[in-house]
Amino acid sequence: MRTVAITGAGSGIGAATADRLSRDGHRVIGVDLRGAEIEADLGTPDGRRSAIDAVAEASGGALDGLITCAGISGFPGRPSSLLASVNYFGTVVLLEGLRPLLAKGDRPSAVAISSNSTTTAPGYSLELTEACLAGDEAEARRVADEVAGESMIEYAATKLAVARWVRATAVTPEWGGTGIRLNAIAPGMIATPMIDEGNSDENLAKQLEMFKQTIALGRAGDPAEIAGLLAFLVGTESTFFCGSIIFCDGGTDALLRADDWPARWEIG
Ligand SMILES: NC(=O)c1ccc[n+]([C@@H]2O[C@H](COP(=O)([O-])OP(=O)(O)OC[C@H]3O[C@@H](n4cnc5c(N)ncnc54)[C@H](O)[C@@H]3O)[C@@H](O)[C@H]2O)c1
Repeated sequence: MRTVAITGAGSGIGAATADRLSRDGHRVIGVDLRGAEIEADLGTPDGRRSAIDAVAEASGGALDGLITCAGISGFPGRPSSLLASVNYFGTVVLLEGLRPLLAKGDRPSAVAISSNSTTTAPGYSLELTEACLAGDEAEARRVADEVAGESMIEYAATKLAVARWVRATAVTPEWGGTGIRLNAIAPGMIATPMIDEGNSDENLAKQLEMFKQTIALGRAGDPAEIAGLLAFLVGTESTFFCGSIIFCDGGTDALLRADDWPARWEIG
């Protein structure tokens, strides 16, 4: 039995993963705004602190796995600053804060949730990505609201920041160097309440329908399909993964960017 904390465990991918891991006999510690063992707002520093403390207490001080699913997409009226706070800081602060618990776990593994929008949403601003990675939340929120406003596409900028943070951090002495695996997945369109919310807005629904046309398998993914991947990645058969961004998107990235990956390395 492994002990695994999951943020965003109350809905969608997080709920499906909590269900899968519980059925597999593991101890799951769920964190969410509501409807989870630990209720906390990961969009605020205080909420993150209380979530970290509560996970430490519930786990008895050691975690074998951590999956950071909590996230929000762009929606009319929702400022981009909130996306920066929840999607980026709500992910990396939890990963950093719970790393000492992972260090005491068995073959520990952490998985963040990026998105295939990072490679398939055209034209989002890298300024927000850079501002998140610089680590100053107040400044990142300012940039988010200034450069992005309420643009839906800036969701991708926060998810690129997550992916880049994971790659840079996974290989450091504190993570890979002590045997703690850190990776991210990049799902494509998955049928969850997040997509239902998008479909409730006329313009977003049109964009989502266009995006659906890019899925080679011809359908959105099921949360259980992502839960299976996450169960593998926090389990004990994925022990050589470090710093990977694993796309699971029904073929969208391959369809739109066939020749862009793997990218050949030029030196000098
Ligand atoms: N559904 C998709 O198509 C898709 C695609 C790529 C990536 N993702 C990512 O997968 C993750 C899960 O998304 P989902 O589709 O299951 O969405 P969802 O809306 O069903 O679940 C997200 C969960 O995060 C929680 N959450 C949001 N803000 C929070 C906060 N401030 N504090 C604590 N919890 C908070 C919500 O309450 C909810 O339970 C997200 O990070 C999302 O960006 C989703």
